[in-house]
Amino acid sequence: MLVKTFGCALFGIDAITVTIEVNIDRGINFYLVGLPDNAVKESQQRIEAAITNLGYYYPHKKIVINMAPADIRKEGSAYDLPIAMGIMAASEQVNTDRLEQFVIMGELSLDGTLNPIKGTLPIAIKAKQEGFRGLIVPKPNAREAAVVEGLEVFGVENIHEVVSILNGENTIHPVTIDMADSLHEMVYEFDFSDVKGQENIKRALEIAAAGGHNVILIGPPGSGKTMLAKRMPTILPPLTMAEALETTKIHSVAGLVGRNASLVRTRPFRSPHHTISDAGLVGGGTYPQPGEISLAHNGVLFLDELPEFKRTVLEVMRQPMEDRVVTISRAKMTVDFPASFMMVAAMNPCPCGYYNHPDKECTCKPGMVQQYLNRISGPLMDRIDLHVEVVPVEYKDLSSKSSGESSAKVRERVIKARKIQEERYADFPAIHANAQMTSQLIQKYCDLNEPCRNILKNAMNRLGLSARAYDRILKVSRTIADLDSSENIQTDHLAEAINYRSLDRDNWGS
Ligand SMILES: Nc1ncnc2c1ncn2[C@@H]1O[C@H](COP(=O)(O)OP(=O)(O)OP(=O)(O)O)[C@@H](O)[C@H]1O
Ligand SMILES: [Mg+2]
Repeated sequence: MLVKTFGCALFGIDAITVTIEVNIDRGINFYLVGLPDNAVKESQQRIEAAITNLGYYYPHKKIVINMAPADIRKEGSAYDLPIAMGIMAASEQVNTDRLEQFVIMGELSLDGTLNPIKGTLPIAIKAKQEGFRGLIVPKPNAREAAVVEGLEVFGVENIHEVVSILNGENTIHPVTIDMADSLHEMVYEFDFSDVKGQENIKRALEIAAAGGHNVILIGPPGSGKTMLAKRMPTILPPLTMAEALETTKIHSVAGLVGRNASLVRTRPFRSPHHTISDAGLVGGGTYPQPGEISLAHNGVLFLDELPEFKRTVLEVMRQPMEDRVVTISRAKMTVDFPASFMMVAAMNPCPCGYYNHPDKECTCKPGMVQQYLNRISGPLMDRIDLHVEVVPVEYKDLSSKSSGESSAKVRERVIKARKIQEERYADFPAIHANAQMTSQLIQKYCDLNEPCRNILKNAMNRLGLSARAYDRILKVSRTIADLDSSENIQTDHLAEAINYRSLDRDNWGS
């Protein structure tokens, strides 16, 4: 008897329907065709054990399984369940009509229980698109799939439950989640009010968040750089539904959506160690997997100890930073992973860490401060709009009971400034924030009046700012003006922006 069941293969952050044909005929042997990888080929052992251990009948006949389309590689153990159900349907133990109405995925244990799978959300989206009635997945994955409306999602623990669903016994009910528990109630573990003092630095981070600017924090050990960076997502605007779905898809294919979790509702904060490989950072592998820059999509990528990262690793990040997407090419396929993130970097000012420290002596030899900075490639520095020097807070501030402004308050101002930018760039679909302005847009929207022009000219000369500082200062002033709801850039906006170029000064390190 010939039956059909359906599963899905992952391709980047999307899924493709895989039709699994199972034919049982007289004879013996087990054939699995259609470009399965080793994990799929091994499924026969697990399936046979699972079916018999639960007291069902495993046909010792000639079983031929064909997975189509044949040109897509089928990887992993998540095809165990659809294949098992195909075998059970072809041996007349489950209803074949209902079988064809569902996409089924899940990895089997030998005792017939199920283990969670990767990529449930893209699979659910595909199942809905293709007009399937429902999706059957392991229980821990069900809430993630239930985000997709108009699809019956069943979370199951073992083969018994799948049989019961397919035979229409109505003992198991589809999972529903309340999408109304809105994205606006973002719950973060941290809050800016935890940070004592550091008002000027919080202000700089607010500007960065408002204009989508990349930022680098420079300061001695223990000054709170990591603490500040971690709180960055909390002042960014709430995720839109589209952003939440896209971020969840990426985390889903990487297997990082937790058990029983549904949508990723908070902006990601990713903090890879400086020993990370190229593939780890931008993505890669035989079956391309998203890297840290994609896991940080719609959130923050924190690069702590920036000068310690290998130059080549940072180099591979440049193109994706520009395009906001990373393309991974393999012999047979090319996949895209979105990678639109805000970069927050941190560094000590010098190898000993105490250059520019208010009361500790820097013990580095002359030239070492500049040398340390030079470890970061120029083109990467070019993409960082704000340089913020972090000085440790004094004991009396640290021990004070008064808590600072909450992230929610700051976020309100950020949202307001982002609205202004949304309207400004309504005709430019690729531009969402001031940080993304092209040279032409800078000319158009960062027009300076006479007093501003003089200030900038003087500052450039006096501080010996490099040419690369010029456009950055204009972009950041635009954001400061937006936070101030000011149509034009005023002198105080510009003056503040000029402060955020420490590393461009020709006296840095001397
Ligand atoms: N402004 C502050 N308010 C409250 N706690 C602070 C502040 N600054 C520093 N701390 C405390 O000091 C600890 C160390 O800070 P953090 O790890 O962020 O420093 P860092 O600059 O990243 O240091 P390193 O260069 O060693 O990585 C924090 O965990 C926090 O407890
Ligand atoms: Mg740190």
